[in-house]
Amino acid sequence: MNTVSLELSSTERKSTIFSGRLAELEGRCRTKRIAIITDERVRGLYGSLFPSSAITMEMGRGEQFKTLRTVESLYEGFLEHRVDRSWLIVGVGGGIVCDVAGFAASTYLRGLSFAFVPTTLLAQVDASIGGKNGVNLGGYKNQVGTFNQPEFVLCDFGVLKTLPPEELKNGFAEVIKHALIADDRLFSFLETNTDEALALYPDAIERVVYDSLIIKSGIVSRDETEKGERRKLNFGHTVGHALEKVCGLRHGEAVSVGMVVASRLSVRKGLLSEENVQRIQRLLAAFHLPVGVQADGALIREALWKDKKREDNRIHVVLLDGIGRATVEPLAMNELNEVIDDLCQSR
Ligand SMILES: NC(=O)c1ccc[n+]([C@@H]2O[C@H](COP(=O)([O-])OP(=O)(O)OC[C@H]3O[C@@H](n4cnc5c(N)ncnc54)[C@H](O)[C@@H]3O)[C@@H](O)[C@H]2O)c1
Ligand SMILES: [Zn+2]
Repeated sequence: MNTVSLELSSTERKSTIFSGRLAELEGRCRTKRIAIITDERVRGLYGSLFPSSAITMEMGRGEQFKTLRTVESLYEGFLEHRVDRSWLIVGVGGGIVCDVAGFAASTYLRGLSFAFVPTTLLAQVDASIGGKNGVNLGGYKNQVGTFNQPEFVLCDFGVLKTLPPEELKNGFAEVIKHALIADDRLFSFLETNTDEALALYPDAIERVVYDSLIIKSGIVSRDETEKGERRKLNFGHTVGHALEKVCGLRHGEAVSVGMVVASRLSVRKGLLSEENVQRIQRLLAAFHLPVGVQADGALIREALWKDKKREDNRIHVVLLDGIGRATVEPLAMNELNEVIDDLCQSR
């Protein structure tokens, strides 16, 4: 994989994404004063590869640990080890570890430098890129946070082998999302190399992660603060978030069904052909992602009505203008409701 350089105007800071081995982390760091933030599972699997000079701090696993309380205990660890601005903080783990490590580093002493070694597919293609770091508060996800870029992101595809299948699926949902909104060639590659990608064959997974992070970093660098193009990254997520809440689906599964709904809406708007919706559904199913859901349509409609992005009777949704091309369109809530009802009845 080539090195990807991400430059963002507001921070005037360059963030570089490398592929490599976790064991080479020390060589990538500009200092030996390294504080690693990780969780117990990742440390158990890969702690022996961490730089010998680094101190390691563990946080709990799961969304319930993505909190200010966890951040406070990390700050206390920084104090104890006399961490100062000369140090580099490195988050080694999934999206949760990266989000928390980036936030703790960005706020301690008004900001320390940090880097990520994302160890889930979702973190490699999504969470580690884009400069958003944060924690949950009072039941709201990512309610407190910062916009700040890591110095570098080191992607080691080898560590993905120990991921449970459900975690891989979550990542592939975002990969398919990136292909659908921006890259029809990646979509075709996924169609013809499904087994290779699922089996994490080195060539296949490298291509998939590389293309996917190029898409996300490209969109982010053109729209760092989320006013325009970045909204395309929400493809499948408006309905997805409602399904996550109402049906308790995992994020990737909910986004998968959300992408089917958005694709069907695109057909209704005359933007996408029925044949392409079938292709999309086939690809999602091939990656063991759901294309429908058994749910109470009324509850989903209610959750959508509470969506922060709704403006009176309208909501902006991301639709497809063909595979690999996204467009943000205003939509009447009743149009969305009709497709939700179809979805719930079609099961
Ligand atoms: N900042 C952003 O732009 C952004 C974007 C997308 C998602 N996110 C956030 O990312 C989080 C989800 O991240 P996630 O899906 O990586 O989940 P996660 O961080 O919970 O990791 C999933 C699980 O996999 C384990 N794990 C990690 N690497 C492993 C490996 N190599 N082998 C075996 N097990 C491993 C972890 O211990 C954890 O239990 C959410 O909190 C979400 O809000 C942030
Ligand atoms: Zn997502």
